[in-house]
Amino acid sequence: MDLKDKIIVVTGAASGIGKAMAIRFAAEGAKAVVCADLNLEGAQATADECGGVAMACNVGIEAEIADMIEKVETEVGPIDLFCSNAGILVAGGVEAPDEDWQRIWDINVMSHVWAARHLVPRMTERGGGYLLNTASAAGLLNQVGAAPYGVTKHAAVGLAEWLSLSYGDQGIKVSVLCPQAVRSEMTRGHEDGVASIDGMLEPEPVAEACVETIRNETFLVLPHANVLGYMQFKADNYDKWLAGMRKLNRTYGDKL
Ligand SMILES: NC(=O)c1ccc[n+]([C@@H]2O[C@H](COP(=O)([O-])OP(=O)(O)OC[C@H]3O[C@@H](n4cnc5c(N)ncnc54)[C@H](O)[C@@H]3O)[C@@H](O)[C@H]2O)c1
Repeated sequence: MDLKDKIIVVTGAASGIGKAMAIRFAAEGAKAVVCADLNLEGAQATADECGGVAMACNVGIEAEIADMIEKVETEVGPIDLFCSNAGILVAGGVEAPDEDWQRIWDINVMSHVWAARHLVPRMTERGGGYLLNTASAAGLLNQVGAAPYGVTKHAAVGLAEWLSLSYGDQGIKVSVLCPQAVRSEMTRGHEDGVASIDGMLEPEPVAEACVETIRNETFLVLPHANVLGYMQFKADNYDKWLAGMRKLNRTYGDKL
């Protein structure tokens, strides 16, 4: 998809990857970039920087996503590209409280379900549209020290695959963003953690990788080149891959 003259929504646009996406998409000549975030002040700052529109939205609540989509479609125009990017990190293992599991499930997974539920019927009716869902390399390769994060990101990848295989014939394009460490509020203080093992990217090259993938209409956005090799190694020998992950867990298990 060519982003020129397109109407684009980015959630989590107040900070980090979402902010970089909004600014990069605007530079591609988008007609409108809607910067949605829980943090309206931050969303407004991004919108000011890229000539976009700010909207408050808690993506962990279905009604707020539905209302935001309705508002954008009524006041701005039909959404061409919706980026479900907002996400949170919850560390720990199975002992993490159920409330934390539920909160990260709603924000990292259900927000993608809800966006698709309220947008796909509109998009298919007008012949198509594009969904870019931010998962993580943790959705392909798991996350040492953070079960709620690794599990929800796997679910996000699974949902993106399902959306692509179910609606691709009706003109819905889907891509899923799976970076390792990116400098942002989420990774502040974790610069020497396991996710940074191959280096920490700035958000801008990640946004650039998104533009390129959307232009090519391919599924995986892998800003860190090593991730594909790790996936191939995992598929080739699951047990050997798990042994390697245990080694990482011994070194990094208490250090994300
Ligand atoms: N930073 C990384 O290393 C990294 C790596 C892989 C994937 N990701 C994913 O990238 C996405 C963006 O993360 P980031 O690194 O830019 O982090 P960030 O914390 O800088 O930005 C996240 C943004 O999402 C917003 N947000 C959080 N909860 C929200 C909610 N309920 N409703 C609406 N907005 C909400 C925050 O206000 C913030 O502006 C996340 O899904 C994250 O899991 C990040």
